[in-house]
Amino acid sequence: MAAVYTYSEESTHVRRSVLRELLAHAVDPNIISLATGLPSSQLLPVERFNECVNTVVSRDGARALQYSPQFVPLREWIADYMTRRGVKSTPDNILITNGCQHGLTLMSRLFLNPGDTAVVEQVTFIGIEHATGGRGATLRPIPSDLDTGADMDALEAAFKQEPHPKLAIIIPDFHNPLGISITPEKRQRAAQLANTYGIPLVEDDPYSPLRFIGDIPQPIKSYDTDGFVFYLGSFSKILAPGVRCGWIVGPSEVIRNLERLREAHDLETSTLIQRSITEFLSRGWLEEHLTQLNAANHLRRDTLLAALDNHLGQYATWTEPEGGIFIWVTLPEQIDTWDMIKEAIDNKVVYIPGGEFSVVGGYRNTMRLNFSNVANDKIAEGIQRLAAVIEKRL
Ligand SMILES: Cc1ncc(COP(=O)(O)O)c(C=O)c1O
Repeated sequence: MAAVYTYSEESTHVRRSVLRELLAHAVDPNIISLATGLPSSQLLPVERFNECVNTVVSRDGARALQYSPQFVPLREWIADYMTRRGVKSTPDNILITNGCQHGLTLMSRLFLNPGDTAVVEQVTFIGIEHATGGRGATLRPIPSDLDTGADMDALEAAFKQEPHPKLAIIIPDFHNPLGISITPEKRQRAAQLANTYGIPLVEDDPYSPLRFIGDIPQPIKSYDTDGFVFYLGSFSKILAPGVRCGWIVGPSEVIRNLERLREAHDLETSTLIQRSITEFLSRGWLEEHLTQLNAANHLRRDTLLAALDNHLGQYATWTEPEGGIFIWVTLPEQIDTWDMIKEAIDNKVVYIPGGEFSVVGGYRNTMRLNFSNVANDKIAEGIQRLAAVIEKRL
């Protein structure tokens, strides 16, 4: 008998990405991809990380391969790092996770019941929609300004509206997909709103250390007064996505509850990985790696901005991020980036249609471009190919 499965409701809540399937077929090496969300493969610290893993296994032996509670030296490093960034923390305020996505899922699990309301940005990282919508929550979207980030008046209105939301999630720095960062005034206001209305606000921040212009601003969490702001960090974009390691910062009571909840998911983050990352950090290699990464990203961003100016300058606008890995492009209304994608792939260039990131539909004349994982000498050619496709439609 052919098997017939009855799946849980939750398993059907997560939207299938048509685009992901489309891109999986775009494997031609001649295609210039501006579509990924990856750090540069060439710049991943392969040899140094290898050295750390080897050191850990030979020095720590079985302890590196055994089940273990969260690795205290890593929690200490993160607590110290967050304190330096204006978020006074001790190891009890830190939960080691398997990256920001895991943090988003755990936070949604902790604060949302199916049917509850969650506030998210209208245009946001798909994983945020998956974590909240996947939990069965109703999404209440707020707009973001392309200069200053998430709209705080809209956040307040969303907090006031009945039924009151149980959770809000915003991306503070080098937004995926918008590339923008929110202003210090808005950070302060966001924290104040979370505390005034007693609604947990998650700041999902995998990108802030990837700043190549100016100083890294203080997180929203640094303005928290009563413990309603939660910070999510990650080693994915600053070290390597494959290590699958990140952290949540919050009040110790909430961290203990998250720890209990996560046991049901996956018990713990890999002992070997936690120790290897700690080794990498204790050698001072993260700073060196970030310096190299940010210099490369800066150069690529400048190349991409110049190419946009040259080839799309007459009819498009775009964000100019001071770090991170993405630029958001807005094209004339009549250009539909969804309709255009097959033609772009035929012309050997690929991007992500902006509508893919919208929880309210629309945004069909927008696209997200990545500059971190494309060779610098391919960027101008990629934009020229894109412009050729667009111009045929204008
Ligand atoms: C805004 C945002 N949050 C979370 C994630 C997931 O990151 P991680 O690899 O740490 O799970 C990403 C990855 O692209 C992201 O862009």
